[in-house]
Amino acid sequence: MIPLRLVVRNVAAGSIVRRLGQAEGTVFREPVIELSYKNEALDHPLINRHHAVAMGIADRAELDIMCDVAYRVNDVLDGLFRACGIRLVDFKLEFGRTAAGEIVVADEISPDTCRLWDLESGRRLDRDRFRRDMGDIVAAYQEVYDRLCNHAKND
Ligand code: TMP
Repeated sequence: MIPLRLVVRNVAAGSIVRRLGQAEGTVFREPVIELSYKNEALDHPLINRHHAVAMGIADRAELDIMCDVAYRVNDVLDGLFRACGIRLVDFKLEFGRTAAGEIVVADEISPDTCRLWDLESGRRLDRDRFRRDMGDIVAAYQEVYDRLCNHAKND
């Protein structure tokens, strides 16, 4: 595993609201990629590409691949969730390096690692229900699953 988290944000929510004062729900003019250094003792601080290269976490070509893949995953997931009536607000990706040096997406993509809002009502269908003590987390995750299954059946 490469000790980086890439967060792709389409809409302002969560930490970027607190950090940059963007109103929650603001649609960004283009997706934003943020990098953080996976280091528990430092509380996973935000870093930039220069830090990642200087610290030997990844080289420039690898960072280009990770960002390209992150944008492509965003396009695919955004379309998929939109077809299910869900807005992909943001998500987190992690990457690994195979023995042959190939950069691959690793770790999970789930309602624990994405923000998913109902397109019409804005109802939260993700881990924020737990983080904000909103309840009904199992029902929300089940709803995401059911909508994805229905979409796959009708596709
Ligand atoms: P944030 O707004 O708290 O920075 O989170 C951005 C996205 O990253 C959100 O979809 C949740 C996801 N995330 C994780 O998957 N694991 C984590 O430990 C954190 C902090 C965020």
